[in-house]
Amino acid sequence: MTGDSIVRFAQRMEQLPPYLFGMINNMRMKKRAEGDDVIDLGMGNPIDPAPDAVTRKLCEVVQDPKSHRYPVAAGLRNLRKEIAKYYERDYGVSLDSENEVICTIGSKEGISHLCLALVGPGDTVLVPTPAFPIHVYATIIAGGNVIRIPLAEEDVFLSRIATMCESLYPSPKVLILNYPHNPTGALASLDLFTEVVKLARKYRFMVIQDFAYAKVTFDGYHAPSLMQVPGARNVGVEFGSFSKSYNMAGWRIGYCVGNREIIQGLAKIKGYYDYGIFSAIQIAGIVALRDCDADVVQQVRVYQQRRDVLCHGLRRIGWPVSEPRAGMFVWTRIPPPYDSMGSMEFGIKLMEEANVAVAPGIGFGEEGEGYLRLALVENVHRIRQALRQMGKVLKGLKSPAETVEPREEVSTASSSEMRDCSDGGEAQVNPMEMSR
Ligand SMILES: Cc1ncc(COP(=O)(O)O)c(C=O)c1O
Repeated sequence: MTGDSIVRFAQRMEQLPPYLFGMINNMRMKKRAEGDDVIDLGMGNPIDPAPDAVTRKLCEVVQDPKSHRYPVAAGLRNLRKEIAKYYERDYGVSLDSENEVICTIGSKEGISHLCLALVGPGDTVLVPTPAFPIHVYATIIAGGNVIRIPLAEEDVFLSRIATMCESLYPSPKVLILNYPHNPTGALASLDLFTEVVKLARKYRFMVIQDFAYAKVTFDGYHAPSLMQVPGARNVGVEFGSFSKSYNMAGWRIGYCVGNREIIQGLAKIKGYYDYGIFSAIQIAGIVALRDCDADVVQQVRVYQQRRDVLCHGLRRIGWPVSEPRAGMFVWTRIPPPYDSMGSMEFGIKLMEEANVAVAPGIGFGEEGEGYLRLALVENVHRIRQALRQMGKVLKGLKSPAETVEPREEVSTASSSEMRDCSDGGEAQVNPMEMSR
């Protein structure tokens, strides 16, 4: 409150910490305003366009005034059917599209509102960390308690969940999973999901799996769906997104599938809060799921190529990294001799001296300290430029490793064009945005 302002926020606002990425964001905006060409590996905001067929369908449907009305809040029946068909086709899972599928305004909105429906004061939610911030803050905003479980190998991770369930009273109500994981790139096996479902039954907690990076997988890896586990829909739900697979991040469309009671609860709370997704976008979403498998494959090739160029280049400048097998990020320890610096301080150094923006690990929770996240959202030419700039600044890295130079990127949007576009929105950058 300043001066004689009458503005007083709700107590829950005090639980939302200061914006850890704010300093880097502001520096990036300031540098760009001064004409510096900052290469942005910070935000996981896709730069490539949605598939042509999807954009064409949107343009066609938007001409029809019927699409201008309030949409069907839970999602058009045909879109829900298409989501069910996609689960059948890709995971061999059959879903009742009337009761086990709901559309959301992106998975982030869905997860946030679902936490409002499931969690309240006195409830505890288990969240693996480091974490995509909304996995923690959806519970905090809903008034619940978060217990952080450091991500670990499957056995250790499962035993930590069991220990929490046995030692906490009341025992945890919800477990939030996110595989493939942002920011770390951690993967789940079907065995892990099977064990989680067993634990959920035994200790009576619900499971929310965030499957935003379902299709962004590399080297022949296919990410399993929680719903493939028999009985999974008795204990939980899975969120999907059009943002990453189809480059539709700004369109705001996602979905939730699984347990019908949970879906009903989400529908109820969403019915109070919103009217659903613009119908033209929902119809374009049908086209994405039905006709755009090849576009997804092509986009994933682009990410894999960027990943290879970035990881290879980092190793060449003496920065040891390993390639993620899914997701849009390289998650890496701060290399020696800089490893005693905090991730924020190191991120600022890269921004100030190398004109490269990255996401400091601390932004994903304490367990992320000592790490950085580099997003694969610049084209290979700019990634190479970023590597040259970082190489000049980071003196004293270990001697370069011998690696084979990856091939050229197949095709991508011009990242400078996209940057112009996204810069327009940065003025309103919100506390959670850098974490995308
Ligand atoms: C793990 C994770 N979940 C959800 C989202 C948000 O997805 P959507 O655009 O569908 O809300 C992101 C965005 O970066 C993410 O990384």
